[in-house]
Amino acid sequence: MYNNLSKFIREHYNQESGFIPLHSPVFNGNEKKYVIDAIDSTFVSSVGAYVDKFEDEICNYTGSNHAVAIVNGTNALHLSLLLAGVGEGDEVITQPLSFVATANAISYCKAIPHFVDVDKETLGLSPSLLKNYLKQIAKIKEGVCYNKITGNKISACVPMHTFGLPMYIDEIVNICNHYNISVVEDAAESLGSFYKNKHTGTFGLLGVFSFNGNKIVTSGGGGVIITNDKEIAKKAKYLSTQAKVPHKWEYSHDFIGFNYRMPNINAALLCAQIECLEFFVQKKRGLSDSYHHFFKDYEGVILIREIDESRSNYWLNTLLIKDQNERDVFLNSLNKFNIMTRPVWNLINTLNMYEKCPKSDLSNSIWLEKRLVNIPSSVC
Ligand SMILES: Cc1ncc(COP(=O)(O)O)c(C=O)c1O
Repeated sequence: MYNNLSKFIREHYNQESGFIPLHSPVFNGNEKKYVIDAIDSTFVSSVGAYVDKFEDEICNYTGSNHAVAIVNGTNALHLSLLLAGVGEGDEVITQPLSFVATANAISYCKAIPHFVDVDKETLGLSPSLLKNYLKQIAKIKEGVCYNKITGNKISACVPMHTFGLPMYIDEIVNICNHYNISVVEDAAESLGSFYKNKHTGTFGLLGVFSFNGNKIVTSGGGGVIITNDKEIAKKAKYLSTQAKVPHKWEYSHDFIGFNYRMPNINAALLCAQIECLEFFVQKKRGLSDSYHHFFKDYEGVILIREIDESRSNYWLNTLLIKDQNERDVFLNSLNKFNIMTRPVWNLINTLNMYEKCPKSDLSNSIWLEKRLVNIPSSVC
């Protein structure tokens, strides 16, 4: 299989030799034009026309009422959790199978990540396992959800749409609503992904996207918060600009805010990238179909596909390999051919900073961790 796969990938990228990365950005549109325009305008920092334009475009594309551009996805998550009311000593439910930034953002709020297992099918937080688990550990007192075992408030839940694959997010939101737990969707990887015709990130109280260089569209570094709540959006903008009191010339601040606003020069790059977003999604979906066709002849390797009623952006194509030994052979073989493949992140609950955090049974995540592999997924 490895020779054939290497040949298939090299033919797809029309690259006979040299390194093929997992994901690299494509700048074939108005990127240079808009960035030069931002420089010429002298508005390169956090105030400027491209920041406003980008926010409007994200609202149009996702169907969200409000968008606030942020310097990166991690800080967008941090701010969203604060806006959702997460405070010191609270517990925030998330999944162990995610990039570490998801848990770090919870820690920045001095809250405690609480890990609940994922579904094997979606790689996202499992509604049924979440429901059963909350039934065991949660109690509601005067409208507030507490962990019966630790006594801490459970104030938010951060499900993550892994590698762009939408999870059963409507069910997660219903369960969390029942327990008065706010949902902040970590949609960092899923711009362009929809579930039941609604964009990922629009189901919860807040949603977050990342525009890091490895994402489907990039601003170098960048993020955005989306919400339908006008007051939350207003507060997001205020807190991300050092909590400055609006005034024509005075510089006054009435809270400890953050310098989290996206610079206009990054937003200029992003405005050009957003123009290409739908084209990129179609290309990635085409590649996923081709991989699907390729792998159907090979036993022991399954390409993970979107669930019914969803449209994945297929940001990173992901394989499920029979067992850990086979996975290691796969990784060694493809990397030897100079084709980048990599295993999934180490589960967050196993990292030394998070190993003492509360958790559910994590059998699915443990099973997946040994078997998942990402394969080249750039647009070409
Ligand atoms: C799931 C997830 N959450 C959060 C982040 C953080 O985003 P950023 O790198 O823009 O800070 C990323 C990506 O890097 C991510 O993949």
